[in-house]
Amino acid sequence: VISACLETLRSWDTNVRPGTLLNAGDAIAQLADRPDVHQGGVAWGAIDRIQADYQAFQARHRLDQLVVINVASTEPPFELRGVHNDLGALRTALAQPTDVPVLPASSLYAIAAIDLGIPYVNFTPSLGATFPAALALAQERKTVLAGQDGKTGETLLKSVLAPMFAHRNLRLLSWVGHNIFGNRDGQVLNDPRNKESKLRTKDQVVSSILGYKPQTLVSIEYVESLDDWKTAWDHVHFQGFLGTKMIMQFLWQGCDSLLAAPLVIDLARLMLFAQQRGEIGVLTHLACFFKNPMGVSEHDFFKQWHMLTEYVAQRQGR
Ligand SMILES: NC(=O)c1ccc[n+]([C@@H]2O[C@H](COP(=O)([O-])OP(=O)(O)OC[C@H]3O[C@@H](n4cnc5c(N)ncnc54)[C@H](O)[C@@H]3O)[C@@H](O)[C@H]2O)c1
Repeated sequence: VISACLETLRSWDTNVRPGTLLNAGDAIAQLADRPDVHQGGVAWGAIDRIQADYQAFQARHRLDQLVVINVASTEPPFELRGVHNDLGALRTALAQPTDVPVLPASSLYAIAAIDLGIPYVNFTPSLGATFPAALALAQERKTVLAGQDGKTGETLLKSVLAPMFAHRNLRLLSWVGHNIFGNRDGQVLNDPRNKESKLRTKDQVVSSILGYKPQTLVSIEYVESLDDWKTAWDHVHFQGFLGTKMIMQFLWQGCDSLLAAPLVIDLARLMLFAQQRGEIGVLTHLACFFKNPMGVSEHDFFKQWHMLTEYVAQRQGR
């Protein structure tokens, strides 16, 4: 299939534009292989440039609608401050030269999209639009948001299996998950600062579903030879009747990009559908797509799936 599409893919490559690496962290900056990438200066300058690129893309291909999906490398965690709660103050801060980082690159792409009324999805654990001022901008510009961090592999299994332990009243004692994978995502996550963002979104799911916290450990290691194939080995220790301790272990060997690609396509379609219908703000019915769903504290995959089917049924007038 890839050889058959190669020519088309190469011609689509001409759409790629230099972006911004402002406050994206050293691990990502080291990947940049073109000199025209925006690395410093006033943040709103980067937003202006990105907006011009979005609009030129839309005009060139004569598109009625556009959707922006962040699938860039995972940035280190970004600590929020007062300015991130206030849209007016944020606009001012973004337009001034400053030594204190105002927003990371993922959020500049997000603001650029939302400000133009373009739907925005954050498929990564990076900050993106996950702060109050970005939500306020989405309300103002009447657009839709979703995120954060695609749920495609080990965490998907956790959110399916943890409800089973809860419903059978099997008490979880510990859940240890070791993940190894290659590819460039693995290379970036090999930096402890970037890895911290991923660990945060992966490690909260089980406790949130159970309502108590068993001992949990998540590790992510970069093993170059594995390329795009991610292996997760999970060791689940639990207690049954009369306190008897038992163990469940599983191996997940997934092709990372092929797990993610159909979700990204479905998300694009669902975002455009919602926007056509005049919906505004965070699309909470898309929670089942994400490890850390925006605006939703529910992590149980089945309840999240129900939210999606309810939404579809309502839109179909059932
Ligand atoms: N199954 C999955 O693949 C999966 C699941 C959940 C989340 N994610 C997240 O999706 C993202 C992409 O994963 P991947 O495997 O495709 O990674 P990848 O390393 O193959 O691709 C990321 C690309 O983003 C580019 N990039 C980095 N910072 C950028 C910036 N500021 N502006 C423009 N481009 C930038 C990199 O040069 C690289 O080409 C990662 O954050 C990953 O954690 C992936």
